[in-house]
Amino acid sequence: MRLNLTINGNALSYDAAPGDSLLSVLRKLGYYGVKHGCETGECGACAVLLDSKPVNSCVHLAVQADGHQIETIESLGEYPEQGWKTTAGLHPLQAAFVESGAIQCGYCTPAMILAASELLSNEPNPTEYQVREALSGVLCRCTGYLKPVQAVLRAAAVLRGEEVEPIGTSIPVPPGWIPGENELGKPKDEIFSPNEQPIPPGSVVTPMRVMPRIQMAPETETWHHVGKPEIKVDAIKLVQGKPAFTADFEKRGMLIAKVLHSPIAHARIKRIDITRARNLEGVAAVLTWQDIPRVVYSTAGQSDPIPGPLDSFSLDHKVRFVGDRVAFVAAENEEIALKALELIEVEYEPLQELFDPERAMQPGAVIIHDETEYVNFAESDPTKNLAAQIRIDIGNVDKGFAEADRIIEGYYDVPKVQQVHIEPHVVITYWDEDDRLVIRTSTQVPFHVRRQLAPVLGLPIKRIRVIKPRIGGGFGGKQEVLIEDVAAHLTIATGRPVIYEYTREEEFIAARSRHPMRIHLKTGIKQDGTITANAMYTLSDTGAYGCHALTVTGNTGHKGMALYVGDGPYRKAPNIRFYADIVYTNHPPAGAYRGYGVPQGFWALERHMEKIARELGLDPIDFRLKNALRTGELHPFSTAWSEGREPRPETIETCRLEECVRQGRAAIGWDQKFGSPAWRLGAGQPHLRRGIGVALVMQGTAIPYLDMGSASIKMNDDGSFNLLVGATDLGTGSDTVLAQMAAEVLGVPVQDILVYSSDTDFTPFDKGAYASSTTYISGTAVVRAAEQVADRIRARAARIINKQAMGEKINPEDIALIDRQAIAPDGSRISLSEIGHDAFHRVDQEQIMGIGSYVSPVAPPPFAAQFAEVTVDIETGQVVVDKLVMAVDSGVIVNPITASGQIEGGMTQALGYAVCEEMVYDQAGRARERNLKDYHIFQAHEMPELTTLFIETFEPSHPFGVKAVAEIPIDGVAPAVGNAVFDACGVNVDDNPITPEKAWRAIQQGNLV
Ligand code: FES
Ligand code: FES
Repeated sequence: MRLNLTINGNALSYDAAPGDSLLSVLRKLGYYGVKHGCETGECGACAVLLDSKPVNSCVHLAVQADGHQIETIESLGEYPEQGWKTTAGLHPLQAAFVESGAIQCGYCTPAMILAASELLSNEPNPTEYQVREALSGVLCRCTGYLKPVQAVLRAAAVLRGEEVEPIGTSIPVPPGWIPGENELGKPKDEIFSPNEQPIPPGSVVTPMRVMPRIQMAPETETWHHVGKPEIKVDAIKLVQGKPAFTADFEKRGMLIAKVLHSPIAHARIKRIDITRARNLEGVAAVLTWQDIPRVVYSTAGQSDPIPGPLDSFSLDHKVRFVGDRVAFVAAENEEIALKALELIEVEYEPLQELFDPERAMQPGAVIIHDETEYVNFAESDPTKNLAAQIRIDIGNVDKGFAEADRIIEGYYDVPKVQQVHIEPHVVITYWDEDDRLVIRTSTQVPFHVRRQLAPVLGLPIKRIRVIKPRIGGGFGGKQEVLIEDVAAHLTIATGRPVIYEYTREEEFIAARSRHPMRIHLKTGIKQDGTITANAMYTLSDTGAYGCHALTVTGNTGHKGMALYVGDGPYRKAPNIRFYADIVYTNHPPAGAYRGYGVPQGFWALERHMEKIARELGLDPIDFRLKNALRTGELHPFSTAWSEGREPRPETIETCRLEECVRQGRAAIGWDQKFGSPAWRLGAGQPHLRRGIGVALVMQGTAIPYLDMGSASIKMNDDGSFNLLVGATDLGTGSDTVLAQMAAEVLGVPVQDILVYSSDTDFTPFDKGAYASSTTYISGTAVVRAAEQVADRIRARAARIINKQAMGEKINPEDIALIDRQAIAPDGSRISLSEIGHDAFHRVDQEQIMGIGSYVSPVAPPPFAAQFAEVTVDIETGQVVVDKLVMAVDSGVIVNPITASGQIEGGMTQALGYAVCEEMVYDQAGRARERNLKDYHIFQAHEMPELTTLFIETFEPSHPFGVKAVAEIPIDGVAPAVGNAVFDACGVNVDDNPITPEKAWRAIQQGNLV
């Protein structure tokens, strides 16, 4: 069917099939700014303007666009300097997104900007409410929407010709400063609502400032790039919708892969007949377990040795969950591949199913892993459906209980939830001209993919090259070697390039998720609030495979149970027990998800601490701080358990939890609200109750003695540098903060550091992005590499300056590198471009290079105080979260804008965990949630007010004093909300999320106050 389309002002004709979506046609035509995030019109990543109106092109047939005007992100603006040609530059909206830090992974960015441009073309002076409404059709899992809203308001002002405050305006906080609520709330001059339209009730009024409040560490005062709000190094390409992501890459003759997923939860495959599928015209390959080598492995992307059982096969003759793999197909197009799946005949021999984790270890339970190839790790025991077991005793817990005045116990449940990165899992594989297999994949762990897949594919490591392009979010979901083998097997079978991209439904039925757990807590307390012993037992459901089973649940105890050590003598010798059983069931496998087991632990722990404080009549904050870990104390688990090697004692060098509490409670107005009946009942209507809650949390920073990061830097002849890192930026901004550290050492602007990440052929090894480690581990490696380069530059500069000078000789070590120059103490100087040119073309020619690696002996924890304010409707059970305030001690903040973006995005993800996100299965193990309509994540217009405060410490184990920031924001929101709900109406909901139904039931059964 011949279509006449006008795309970005260019008229063209296109032959489309009747069922072609507008999305598929636009991408085939090279408009890669239009993204695929689902197939059902729910995520908005595919939005384009059709006759100036936003439409989701995935659910719009191409034929419907015949004769119409289409605009994509490519129509807006472009990089201004293009050699001898200059362009008009970026559109003000694109510029504002870049400057405001509104881009994290950037996958949703083109759609957001298009939605905003449609708004601004009709309403040049929008309210914040209108902006949030306009953005509400585009889901973003990274940002929490705060900075995108600020960017749109900023662009609107620019387009109206108004002056806007420079983004980088620093707002340091003096040490004694406590913000009054008004100061962080809605002072008139910070509200960007200049048209004075009335703001609808319930909407958030976002202060104009993008920068968070920071109580700065004094050590940072003289720095030029670290600690500054530098623009993300990848922002400009992402804001233009450049083809940066895995699927934005094409190979001639590329096949489409599809997977046949099991419709039943537990069965043997008695017979599988692929004859009809293989004979279908356009099908290039159909693979079953009979066609490929039977190699047992773990899909968890972790360092060697993998800390978990080997229990997976690319394809098996047994299926263990609804969604498990049965067969792979590669075909000329998607339609043929899907048809081929229908033609595969499978006869299953159903087996007894196991869905209840409590039953998994009981005698007589069906064994899920009875294969002879299974490889145990540590305490795994497949005959008991045990993927892992943990038994940790610190001190003498029984003695601690005996010494307590009260023992308080509780049970807490946490659900299975999804990462929901907007870019699905996607991989392209092909043989290169040297018969090496190239795997271009959206992964957090490219080097682990290469190492772990080599035996599965029957290839030596040296014949595999893994390229990690831009990633559209990962959140742990891409710390899994999940789909790379599918495309790779099909490329091996056919010799042709293959692309395999998950649908959104596959994300829900076949990808990984957060481990659901049932947690029992038992705490011994003295009457004065001293904790004498604390014991946690966790039953964790790993689903059908044990990927990350041991380490995720290990962290549930290792981080959560470390926070409260007790007081007085108990502080010196705490009594802590953490036991866990991680069992197999026929649910889809769980795996890594941002926070990595820690949010589960803190839901239980912080709800439990609240109950203890209330039962004992103690102030909930004072009680927590009395027992919390402090600077100079031993991390209690450091001598008992480690994810990596043997545990070794580790002292907490930096902990400003008390200051986090002090600043956070002031920011949310705790002292005015907590315990105030007038405030609690003053929400405006009799059926509404307001409540305020707190949770204290800690995380880790990297895995000591195990995970290595490395970096190489080479100097160019114009004084710029190529920074090559194996680290993977998921949207967190890690490429940018690594560039900032290199720039600080080398004395150049960040724009002179050209970052490339990652490619196993060219970038040095890095364990990948997980365990909150990139800024700390890979950052130290970057600093080491940069220092080597700086030493060579100084030596060369000293030689050149000494040759020119008549007087005293300059020592290289006395030379400072600042502003692209090497400057001697006497003021004589030489530019880095002269040094670079000299090194390549003049005397003692050399390539100035450095390479650094780093493995940490410690894992310094960040700490935070999370506050939440809610309104509960006691008639319906509806919980509305009004405010979230997080005060974080994450060491030195390398980039306040990207770091605050992490906190805002993390809090938003955690908000879903608190009130609405949950994956539920029916009695046959079939997923209830299969799309983004049934699985709701927060949208721009539903958000509470978000406030981030950084309380800097200088962590001495890192050259720039950093700790981690990426995971901690996801730990405390759910319990703080749970505690706020209790504060509002006096009822406890101990299984999250706190849905209206659960809250309503608790209100009906509880003692409403
Ligand atoms: S890709 Fe079209 S709405 Fe998700
Ligand atoms: S920046 Fe919005 S989905 Fe990642």
